[in-house]
Amino acid sequence: MRNLDSSFERVYKHIESRVAELPDSLIGHIERTRILAERLAQIHGVNVRKCSMGAIAHDLARHLTESKLLVESQSSKIPINSYEYKSPVLLHGPLAARWLESDLNCQDKEVINSVRYHTTGHPEMTDIEKIVFIADKLEPDKVQRNPELELVVSRMEANLDTAILEYLKFRIGSILDKNGVVHPLAIDTWNYFLQKNN
Ligand SMILES: [Fe+2]
Ligand SMILES: [Fe+2]
Repeated sequence: MRNLDSSFERVYKHIESRVAELPDSLIGHIERTRILAERLAQIHGVNVRKCSMGAIAHDLARHLTESKLLVESQSSKIPINSYEYKSPVLLHGPLAARWLESDLNCQDKEVINSVRYHTTGHPEMTDIEKIVFIADKLEPDKVQRNPELELVVSRMEANLDTAILEYLKFRIGSILDKNGVVHPLAIDTWNYFLQKNN
């Protein structure tokens, strides 16, 4: 157990040193996401350290340009679908997840998936994945910029599934209002949690 803990903490420190090289504004967002993820983990009785790791790693590739995201994803053998070709920013989660597995030697599948799917969500997310997803979307700066998110904030302490549904209703609704394309994983996530909670 102690060996497992010390290798986990080694990976955590390694991620922290990668975060320190990111642009300041991104570091600020990551830090606010980490603080909220840790608070939600405590409230919901979920592993705080794993949620914290997912939060600090989730945007490791968010600063890359679209062309760099495509090139890096291709060279890392990440499958790219038509939605991601059109909107390469969608690849920043999958690419950071790949870095976690390969360069950073993270062995924790839930942490890796919390990073991989933090943009769209996916059906059957675990509690760690739900918390990283929600903390990324509802960190205080994002809520300040989007006061409609207050309703989701009011749900997140009581029930993670309800908060995800409220968030997706807001997010998918605003994409539809602009005649935008909704990533199929976001729709699948909506359908899954709606049926699960009805
Ligand atoms: Fe992100
Ligand atoms: Fe983020």
